[in-house]
Amino acid sequence: MKFDIITIFPDFFDSVFSHGIINKALEKNIVDINIHNLRDFTKNKHKKVDDTPYGGGSGMVMSPEPIGLAVEEIKDNKKKSIVILTTPQGQKFNDQIAENLSKFDQIVLLCGRYEGIDERVNELYVDLELSTGDYINSGGEYAAAIITDAVSRYVPGVLGNIESVKSESFKDGLLEYPQYTKPNDYKGLKVPEILLTGNHANIEVWRKRKSIERTFKKNPDILDYSKLTKEESDILKNYQIENAPSYNVYIALIHYPVYNKQLEIISTACKSIDVHDISRDGTTYGVKQFFLVTPVVEQQKLAKKLIDHWIVGQGVKFNDTKSEAFEIVKIKNTIDDVITEIHKVENKEPKLIFTDARLNENMIGYNELRKKIFENDNPFLILFGTGWGIAQEITDKADYVLKPVRGFTNFNHLSVRSATAIILDRLLSCKI
Ligand SMILES: C[S@@+](CC[C@H](N)C(=O)[O-])C[C@H]1O[C@@H](n2cnc3c(N)ncnc32)[C@H](O)[C@@H]1O
Repeated sequence: MKFDIITIFPDFFDSVFSHGIINKALEKNIVDINIHNLRDFTKNKHKKVDDTPYGGGSGMVMSPEPIGLAVEEIKDNKKKSIVILTTPQGQKFNDQIAENLSKFDQIVLLCGRYEGIDERVNELYVDLELSTGDYINSGGEYAAAIITDAVSRYVPGVLGNIESVKSESFKDGLLEYPQYTKPNDYKGLKVPEILLTGNHANIEVWRKRKSIERTFKKNPDILDYSKLTKEESDILKNYQIENAPSYNVYIALIHYPVYNKQLEIISTACKSIDVHDISRDGTTYGVKQFFLVTPVVEQQKLAKKLIDHWIVGQGVKFNDTKSEAFEIVKIKNTIDDVITEIHKVENKEPKLIFTDARLNENMIGYNELRKKIFENDNPFLILFGTGWGIAQEITDKADYVLKPVRGFTNFNHLSVRSATAIILDRLLSCKI
């Protein structure tokens, strides 16, 4: 495996690869790392590699000519080779990419500096853009060193013990279990008993459990790639329930004041299918209460009859999971009544979140709101509309307007039940 790194600071790499595993791999000629000075590929007297940006703006841009010449000379087209541009705009580098890259014979790494590289280099020479994360380094040399090291570990012969690659973090969508070494007692903290028993089968089970638990705690996004046995999935499920974040989320389905098609303010009828489905959505995602908001007495009576049927009536005998879901439903005259009730329970006004199928100014995204909900002990009230959406007088009071749920089409007419399910999943799901 050959790495060719093109940089304007070749000295940067003087010590980076001269330690530990990568140094040994170089000594054994398992990997070969060549550092190329980009200035050697310039044709101008001052070995200039950059120029001012077209269209104005701050800083300098790396010129395409020397990079083009360097790649044309260095890339070996007879081998399985790939040209990688290090850039914060690239795909996020990870373990899977490292493993895939280890199957190439040659990796050419372009290190940017200044404001980056002329876009045409990308179009003409680059096969893959890689970023090490969402931050800005002053040069691509940092990323090139990281990529070279992580990819080398997958090259056969680089690691003495191939087992250590297999058990390491990110394999099978899991982080590695906690590791301990001597002393057994450090500042009063003892090594877990099980690791001292010598019972390797039990130790394996313990380690798997710890891997699952800490992945959920530290990096739950990677669990999506995990291939767990049913038993392991049960461990995960129980751990998620026991360690659920605490949040205070309420939802309300607004039947008044809402718009009709002509944008007149009306009151809509309560639909039993909404009450059935949204109560189940809310219960699944740990919502504290689902308020049905309508001032129309006849509608309230109808809704109450439905709820009573499932909580105290014949429905209980028929399906007790429905009764459990219906327990969270409450009928209120107005949104103000809902807010007053939440205030009474929580000793705090809820933050009002308004949902809409239409685009609005300054909308909040799902991840940002999810973070606020989990990191804040404030109650949150999410308002879902009926008819043609909730009236402006209410939306003006909202603390946050949530971005609409959208597909890659112009059709945007989800039922409120579907929108509620999707929104609650994005905000409150355990994500796998
Ligand atoms: C100061 S940065 C240029 C950032 C560029 N103006 C932008 O906003 O996308 C200079 C160079 O550092 C490297 N670099 C900076 N941050 C990086 C990251 N997170 N991952 C990979 N390379 C990075 C790239 O090679 C980049 O061309």
